[in-house]
Amino acid sequence: LLTKLKHDCATPLPVLRHMADAMAADMRSGLAIDGGSDLKMILSYVDSLPTGNEKGLFYALDLGGTNFRVLRVQLGGKEEGVIATESEQVSIPQDLMFGTSEELFNFIASGLGKFAQREGGKFSMQSGRKREIGFTFSFPVRQTSIDSGILIKWTKGFAVSGTAGRDVVACLNEAMERQGLEMQVSALVNDAVGTLAGARYWDDDVMVAVILGTGTNACYIERMDAIPKLQSHVSSSGRTIINTEWGAFSKGLPLTVFDRDMDAATINPGEQIFEKTISGMYLGEIVRRVLLKMAEEGALFGDSSPEKLSTPFVLRTPDVCAMQQDDSEDLKVVGSILHDLASVESNVSARKIVVEVCDTIVKRGGRLAGAGIVGILQKMEEDSKGLIFGKRTVVAMDGGLYEHYPQYRRYLQDAVTELLGSELSKNVVIEHTKDGSGIGAALLAAANSMYGHDL
Ligand code: BG6
Ligand code: GLC
Repeated sequence: LLTKLKHDCATPLPVLRHMADAMAADMRSGLAIDGGSDLKMILSYVDSLPTGNEKGLFYALDLGGTNFRVLRVQLGGKEEGVIATESEQVSIPQDLMFGTSEELFNFIASGLGKFAQREGGKFSMQSGRKREIGFTFSFPVRQTSIDSGILIKWTKGFAVSGTAGRDVVACLNEAMERQGLEMQVSALVNDAVGTLAGARYWDDDVMVAVILGTGTNACYIERMDAIPKLQSHVSSSGRTIINTEWGAFSKGLPLTVFDRDMDAATINPGEQIFEKTISGMYLGEIVRRVLLKMAEEGALFGDSSPEKLSTPFVLRTPDVCAMQQDDSEDLKVVGSILHDLASVESNVSARKIVVEVCDTIVKRGGRLAGAGIVGILQKMEEDSKGLIFGKRTVVAMDGGLYEHYPQYRRYLQDAVTELLGSELSKNVVIEHTKDGSGIGAALLAAANSMYGHDL
């Protein structure tokens, strides 16, 4: 079983190259026409990047896949930069992921309200003005302007009723009104877009942003004249950020029976296939399915009943990561995780196999993520001849998976280096910019402020 798994998950250079090419081709088809490819290639309406002149006090709301955060960001313009940020994070209660739209947005607005109350007398506000918010909403939204957008569908296991097809800013505004909050959304951004904007504030070479966390996504800076599907929208800078929604990519991926079975059991079968192969929400679940099969058909854990391993999502990616960090001779961390989560007893040789399974799935994920990044860079390079690989180009990265999984990071980087060669890959810098999306959203709210920059 292990030999077959390794074979089916293999990502040698030709597989990576094929995937990177397919990603670049899908990007072009998605830019040509709406619905032209798996990739939605969504227009962000972010046409100018932070300049450093942004000033004032802004809030940011960050609804990711696992956590919800509220930030307060004080921007001081060219002289003072980002003066202060304060933030608070709560994990999103499971029941809200399956509840109603009203319940979810009430939760967000009330979190914001409590946080804003603690602003106290620290910051004064001219009367009649509302506090402005940058709203990072990490789901596929068809943007209709910088401050409005329709939820296309939920991803990452969310199944909230009544939001798809609605303007998420209107949903939030209604909830804020219910809470009596004098605030309004000035910018609605995807987390990848917020990350790009935030990272670009510090570094002009940032051209791409990637999220590798619960879910995955990428966005990049595109020339307006390279977007044939664009009709009326005009950007004064001639450029804009495109949110690829690459989680929906599906071509040329080395998938196994475990991936197919997992996909069939999700609430969105047939969708988000790249996301289901490389992101944090799913890696642990794929490993669990492999181990269950090995236990049932290969007696991996001897007489120990693998019954608990039948529970979907009982093994999470952080557990897989912890097992892979175990450098003790008898792999005792692996043994205790298997015992605690799945109630199975294991000997050292079984534990070694478990670690190999983890490594196989994580290696495939990291390497495919790397190939996806090269696909984006390749498309940008083809259009700009030397402006990407001929100089320093930064890919800003955020998300728990990338942050906490050293082997995943290494496999990703290896794939990028293999695909680009050691010379070109020296110019491509992958940089972790933790929590940049919140600041990015605040900066975009400032740039789009209805009061200008003089708050
Ligand atoms: C956070 C960003 O750091 O990472 C969020 O602020 C983003 O905007 C999140 O959604 C993604 O990572 P994870 O691991 O929480 O899904
Ligand atoms: C999912 C969402 C996408 C988001 C990504 C990372 O793929 O559809 O919008 O950016 O997760 O959080």
